[in-house]
Amino acid sequence: GILRCGALLATVPLLSACVSEQSMLHPAGEDAAAVANLFWVMAAGTVVIWLIVMGITVYAVLGKERPKTERFADRFILIGGVAFPSITLAALLIFGLALLPDWVRTEGADLRVHVTAEQYWWRIAYELPDGSVVQSANELHLPVGQTAEFVLNSTDVIHSFWIPNLGGKIDVIPGRTNLWRLKPTEPGVFRGVCAEFCGPSHALMAFPVVVHEPADFAAFLEGEATPVDAPPNHDLFIASGCGACHAVRGTSAGGAVGPDLTHFASRRTMAAGTLPITAENLASWLLDPKHIKPDVRMPGYDSLPDAERAALVSYLLDLQ
Ligand code: CUA
Repeated sequence: GILRCGALLATVPLLSACVSEQSMLHPAGEDAAAVANLFWVMAAGTVVIWLIVMGITVYAVLGKERPKTERFADRFILIGGVAFPSITLAALLIFGLALLPDWVRTEGADLRVHVTAEQYWWRIAYELPDGSVVQSANELHLPVGQTAEFVLNSTDVIHSFWIPNLGGKIDVIPGRTNLWRLKPTEPGVFRGVCAEFCGPSHALMAFPVVVHEPADFAAFLEGEATPVDAPPNHDLFIASGCGACHAVRGTSAGGAVGPDLTHFASRRTMAAGTLPITAENLASWLLDPKHIKPDVRMPGYDSLPDAERAALVSYLLDLQ
């Protein structure tokens, strides 16, 4: 890891590649491993070609003996300008095409997850064997060693679904259902992102990805499917209008406009990967969400008395 990052830093200024929770160069999935291999092969080839070109340049500037015959020049153009690039690029193309997923021979997936991209968050629904779904949002959980099939839709503009450590990416297009498969090979916590500019808060449209051992994933899914008892202040949550947009399963809040909040406080982030869930962050969010996340649809609740906003914060923190 360190050596590769060091080598990488020495050649290209890609600092972000060394942040391992969002890096295709720290693969934890089959697709990402293939992409990382392709990257290292191309990077090595680039270094070799760069050395050859620089060598020839230095020779041309400093070399005392210069080739004078036309025949040498003809051969140089033929080999260096036609044969070498044709062979190298064809080899890279074949290598890259071989890494494309083989959809025809793909077996059934172990799990289906419906992912809907919206400005600027992710609606996530796990499909159960009986065809029903468990609604969630902004945090994806997967079992290690199993193939997950994502059914991807957008309700507004084009987004792109990318979990660099696991593989990808694929555009999420309104009016079209895209399918995508990923097979995590290592447990861990990674970061998924929106990889297509979709508006002012495009960069604030991320989601933690938790890859569990299969038994832990089953436990997660069971917990996520379980409705909650309405926490204290539920009446205030409804009276303030929150339940018109947000669902809290097990309570009278059934809105389907914004993210499902059933087990909100057990997630790692709020506002789609934007901030950690703390009372302070939630208080600022309720006061003025657009200050944190420009163009977000959630209205601000600055008209509420401070005590009521604080009560809503504690309500949200109770949604374990
Ligand atoms: Cu959604 Cu960028």
